[in-house]
Amino acid sequence: MLLLDKLLVIGSTGLVGSKLASIASRYGFEPYNTQNTRKWPFPNSVQLDITDHDATLRLVREIRPKVIVNTAALTNVDYCETHKEEAEDVNVGGVRNLAEAARSSDCRLIQISTDSVFDGTYGHYTESDMPHPLNYYSLTKLEAEKVVSQLSNYAIARPSVVHGWHSQTIGAPSGSTKPMNFAMFVLDRLKNTETVRAIRDQYSSPTLADNLAEAVLRLAKSPEKGIFHTAGRSCLSRYEFALRLAQIFGYPPKLVQPVFTSEFPQQAVRPKNCCLRVEKAEKALGIRFLTAEEGIMEMKRQIPSIGDR
Ligand SMILES: NC(=O)c1ccc[n+]([C@@H]2O[C@H](COP(=O)([O-])OP(=O)(O)OC[C@H]3O[C@@H](n4cnc5c(N)ncnc54)[C@H](OP(=O)(O)O)[C@@H]3O)[C@@H](O)[C@H]2O)c1
Repeated sequence: MLLLDKLLVIGSTGLVGSKLASIASRYGFEPYNTQNTRKWPFPNSVQLDITDHDATLRLVREIRPKVIVNTAALTNVDYCETHKEEAEDVNVGGVRNLAEAARSSDCRLIQISTDSVFDGTYGHYTESDMPHPLNYYSLTKLEAEKVVSQLSNYAIARPSVVHGWHSQTIGAPSGSTKPMNFAMFVLDRLKNTETVRAIRDQYSSPTLADNLAEAVLRLAKSPEKGIFHTAGRSCLSRYEFALRLAQIFGYPPKLVQPVFTSEFPQQAVRPKNCCLRVEKAEKALGIRFLTAEEGIMEMKRQIPSIGDR
């Protein structure tokens, strides 16, 4: 019998983790998954809080995965700004535990980082540009990159505003993780004929979670080491992205209203333009990242197959 490589997805209840867990077997992996406070009915799932050092090391020692992909983090940027200790514990301390576990069990660690390690002054960042985080969440993500980059077998994937259908978790997310991704939030409001105020002076590269999961699984298979920008090909403001969602899903575009950052108070400072260049990852992984329109069209195409939203 052919033995498949084991892939351990940390944070399988999250948007990105759930996509990875769903398609890992297509890439020839036997997926194992961790869940924290929420549950998802994936096989091979175990509870793990990555801030628990001993439990993290024990689990990795027991499963002996070939690759660990860490998607777990406190992802609510404003929450991290007001709960710094907790953010540091999970986003840095948790990654330190995973890095130690990966080192001692001799496995590859892939860390999901973020476009917001950059300060957003210029946009169109490459992997060799210098990070300069503006808020605490992004600072913890950059610290985690430094921890992971001490390993001999690692890769760091940096996506930008991730979107996609995500619904089957049991138990509500806490305020520390994202209740709903931006595209789902916009579509939910538009469906109820509610207006959406979307920021017109913050730019990013919307990344379809499914496309990101594919890139990460290719990264899991490859021997490539280092940082990879794994984001969508378009560079759009939140307003332009929300408008495209309305247009493609057939909702009245006038429901989407542009606002400036200055009119939309947020606890954490946001970078203005964190669009990423993805040529390095496209070449190394043999993948083509989707444009924002293609990502939204794919979400639209997936509707009939998702019955429980
Ligand atoms: N979504 C975006 O727009 C975006 C953009 C750039 C980068 N990223 C990065 O991409 C990764 C995945 O993001 P996402 O949107 O999929 O996040 P998400 O939906 O908020 O999910 C976060 C996951 O982390 C888990 N988690 C939180 N604390 C944990 C702990 N102490 N121990 C173990 N697991 C824990 C959560 O589990 P429970 O809910 O069960 O606690 C959940 O499964 C993150 O690293 C994020 O920083 C995301």
